[in-house]
Amino acid sequence: MPAIVVLGAQWGDEGKGKATDQLATTDPIDFVVRTSGGHNAGHTIVVNGEKYATHLLPSGILTPGATSVIAGGVVVSPEALFRELDGLVARGVEVAGLKVSANAHVIASYHATIDKVTERFLGKNQIGTTGRGIGPAYGDKINRVGVRIADLFDEKILAQKVEAALDLRNQLLTKVYNRRAIEVDAVVEELTSYAERLRPMVCDTSLLLNQALDAGQTVLFEGAQATMLDVDHGTYPFVTSSNPVAGGVCVGAGIGPTRIDRVIGVIKAYTTRVGSGPFPTELFDEDGTKLQQLGGEIGVSTGRTRRCGWYDAVIARYASRVNGLTEFFLTKLDILGAWEQIPVCVAYEIDGQRVDEMPMTQTEFFHAKPVYEYFEGWQSDISDCRSFDDLPKNAQVYVQALEEMSGAKIWGVGVGPGREQTVVVHP
Ligand code: GDP
Ligand code: IMO
Ligand code: MG
Repeated sequence: MPAIVVLGAQWGDEGKGKATDQLATTDPIDFVVRTSGGHNAGHTIVVNGEKYATHLLPSGILTPGATSVIAGGVVVSPEALFRELDGLVARGVEVAGLKVSANAHVIASYHATIDKVTERFLGKNQIGTTGRGIGPAYGDKINRVGVRIADLFDEKILAQKVEAALDLRNQLLTKVYNRRAIEVDAVVEELTSYAERLRPMVCDTSLLLNQALDAGQTVLFEGAQATMLDVDHGTYPFVTSSNPVAGGVCVGAGIGPTRIDRVIGVIKAYTTRVGSGPFPTELFDEDGTKLQQLGGEIGVSTGRTRRCGWYDAVIARYASRVNGLTEFFLTKLDILGAWEQIPVCVAYEIDGQRVDEMPMTQTEFFHAKPVYEYFEGWQSDISDCRSFDDLPKNAQVYVQALEEMSGAKIWGVGVGPGREQTVVVHP
């Protein structure tokens, strides 16, 4: 299977790191690639009880023998990149061989500044961003005033680009936000200081990946963020500023859609969300607190408490549709072992009408009330189960029911954070 996409089917933090690690340990993977987003992501993998978190790097950097790639659709903070690499090296992880696209846009410190002041300015309408400068960096890219990795190697060009980018930004900062202007020279100096260390990593990653696919090598595209955070297909404006859906992988990597063989949607056995925006199955009672606590639902990047709710099959079907999922990887089934009865949202009720598919407008989605179907819990610890037959009957029924209502088969189920804590349903 040469090209595999792993992506988030909900609002992020589904366990994409674990799914990537799982695939990379069962089949040999030659390349693990990030194609969108930046260091707003936080992917956790647990190997032999040791926990690792990756942000800008693909979690595949921990897979021996796989080359990690940051493709052109990613927004790269060189400062965050080196901090993350140094952190892994200090823990004895081999990080040599990383490739970074010359086309990737750069996040400089001013992007994070603008991200934070914009959020403050929005007040109660704020998005709840990670404050990493993601939106402003993609904004510059779309406005054609962005700085790309290749620009760091020519100080003259870099100075011109930073000047162009800051021209308008500084007007905004000083006149609207009442802040000090950002100095072009200081930014240029900071960015050029990263150039030498970056240089050996930089290449045409589209060419590299297409050649790898031509040679029959296996490339795993590790999604960041998720379908419902997609700037086009998510809960706009409460989204990130990139396209985490499967289509975004082609754009971000510079590969054609005909290259992709499998698209795996990672989905939790319940739902979580960080930041603002609608969330139909969100719980405000003790079940919500219990999911949050038992699931350890705290953001990997920002340490924020995640909002929690039941599984939403409408979202699963939507994710299956907009990504063309070939399968799901269902995570955190073990967490549900503490309930006698487990509600699953099978449809919405909007203004008195039953709706089975994602509503067309945001207003309708804001008004959507979950229609629940109830499943018997298994009320036991399943973290030592290693095959589908090991799972208690009620857990098997729950997985099969989700599969039937979610629009794609479930190839695997996570029963714990560890690498070995996976049950393969459809090999
Ligand atoms: P990502 O951003 O999609 O990679 O997910 P995060 O790493 O932000 O959040 C997922 C969390 O759930 C991490 O702490 C994982 O270690 C953990 N996790 C993943 N799969 C499972 C699972 O099947 N069971 C349990 N208990 N934890 C899991
Ligand atoms: P992973 O890859 C969960 C959310 C933020 C906010 C919105 C916009 O670990 O699943 P941004 O900083 O991107 O402009 O914030 O998107 N968000 C995430 N939520 N997991 C993530 O990544 C996220 N990356 C961004 O909380 O609501
Ligand atoms: Mg995460």
